[in-house]
Amino acid sequence: MEGENHEAAKAQNHLVGVIGAGQMGHGIAHVMLRAGHRVTLLDVSQDFVAAGAKRIAKGLARDVEKERLTEEQRLQAIARLKTTTIFADLATADFVIEAVTEKFEVKAEVFRLLEPHCPPETIFASNTSSISITRLAAATARPAKFVGLHFFNPVPVMKLVEVVPGLQTAPETVEKAIALATSAGKTPVRVNDFPGFVSNRVLMPMINEAVFCLMEGVADAAGVDNVMKLGMNHPMGPLELADLIGLDVCLDIMTVLYESLRDPKYRPCPLLEKMVAANWLGCKTGRGFHQYPKS
Ligand code: CAA
Repeated sequence: MEGENHEAAKAQNHLVGVIGAGQMGHGIAHVMLRAGHRVTLLDVSQDFVAAGAKRIAKGLARDVEKERLTEEQRLQAIARLKTTTIFADLATADFVIEAVTEKFEVKAEVFRLLEPHCPPETIFASNTSSISITRLAAATARPAKFVGLHFFNPVPVMKLVEVVPGLQTAPETVEKAIALATSAGKTPVRVNDFPGFVSNRVLMPMINEAVFCLMEGVADAAGVDNVMKLGMNHPMGPLELADLIGLDVCLDIMTVLYESLRDPKYRPCPLLEKMVAANWLGCKTGRGFHQYPKS
């Protein structure tokens, strides 16, 4: 499967800009490189991009161990990766995928800084998990060339990409986004632009309800997780999954659902808010609903 994608992508040989070298951004860059594309990874500091590149290198080495790539393909993939902190370095990209903080203002500012450097045909995509693609597209001068490309964590493992056209997105842009996701070995599912799309409209209220269960003493964290793992066959319990996603991200998404759908059923659980206030954000800070040794 990876071999076929690799060959298909090489024929297209896209240059993909990825903005944000964090959990999602480095994963997106990894799968694009693995598929044969060239990638320029941008973040605000040299330290951030270096950390992202290190994680990508580790992931590609793992791909060789698992025989998803040959050693030669790994070396070629590494050679196709460039890192930068300068928007002008994305000027020749065919696609730019933004994966920064889940705040409208931050994302809009990224596209405002990027836009002058890219020709009108460059496709801009956002990996947002819940913010309106229509609204983000409207913040750019190329709304017809703007699309949502929502990847899932851990990106190298999860098959799904939600492809989300905004109201203004041209059909050709959607087709190109679907082709890019497919070339990266993903299964794109087209979803209309509503808060949380399908994934987080369903997932986040479940996680939020699990936090209410914990807060109200229905069970402890291990108990809540075990019920969902052993009783529903979920690969991870909802609290464990919240720790993997990041509690700040979960809260941001619940807030978007609550504010945009204006329905009290999406009210973020006060315990989730409190944990974010304490900076107990899950795996990335070493403490969330569970504890994670620093590695
Ligand atoms: N980061 C990167 N890779 C990871 C990882 C992580 N945090 N955790 C596991 N993996 C990799 C492992 O390295 C392994 O890869 P190899 O093939 O190279 O060995 C592979 O995943 C399988 O891992 P394991 O066999 O160790 O563990 P597992 O079978 O328990 O699977 C899991 C781990 C894939 C994470 C599984 O528990 C799972 O599917 N969990 C649910 C994940 C999920 O729901 N993700 C969606 C979150 S929502 C989202 O991302 C979108 C949003 O908008 C919030």
